[in-house]
Amino acid sequence: MAPTSGATVTRHRSSGFLATGAALLLSVAGTACNQESDSQAAPQPILQGAPGAAAAPVDEIQVVLRELSANSPPEVAEGKALFGQNCSICHGPAGDGTTQGPPLVHIIYEPNHHADAAFVLAARNGVRAHHWRFGDMPPLPAVTNAMAVEIVSYIRWMQRQVGIE
Ligand code: HEC
Repeated sequence: MAPTSGATVTRHRSSGFLATGAALLLSVAGTACNQESDSQAAPQPILQGAPGAAAAPVDEIQVVLRELSANSPPEVAEGKALFGQNCSICHGPAGDGTTQGPPLVHIIYEPNHHADAAFVLAARNGVRAHHWRFGDMPPLPAVTNAMAVEIVSYIRWMQRQVGIE
């Protein structure tokens, strides 16, 4: 298993980043997921900017997701607020990704691949970089399991709006 410290080193390089990042993804994909098939189709982030670079411009997908989020129903309002407070700094206000973390409204986070428990565990234990090139997600001790469950309902609602079920 490739050491994840490699991911940290790779993050800070700007030239040749994509090639090394892709190779790294192929070597570490599947470490936290049971589905080895992931390694054959390493997903690319929606955002093109390298982590640490100046904020990338908002693209069309993000415009759509942010509009959906702005019109989300009251049932997911609490999850949306909790997501905004605890997750959006890295995952984007509408789960649309930033230069610090991947979009969660993305096919690789469909319920069949990342069940609701994956969100609870991510907040509790953090996540080792394995799908992307952003580095590790730290544990978030301020986020309780109950809060994570609310957050999941918001993300699942967002996913359903774009056909991810
Ligand atoms: C400091 C940045 C940061 C914050 C804050 C953050 N995340 Fe993450 N998160 C990441 C990164 C980076 C990854 C991608 C790891 C990888 O390469 O697969 C990730 C991955 C995930 C995953 C995928 C887990 C898996 O099993 O593959 C979930 C689910 C997730 N985050 C949920 C959350 C939730 C919910 C919150 C808020 C409570 C949150 N994250 C806050 C950076 C962050």
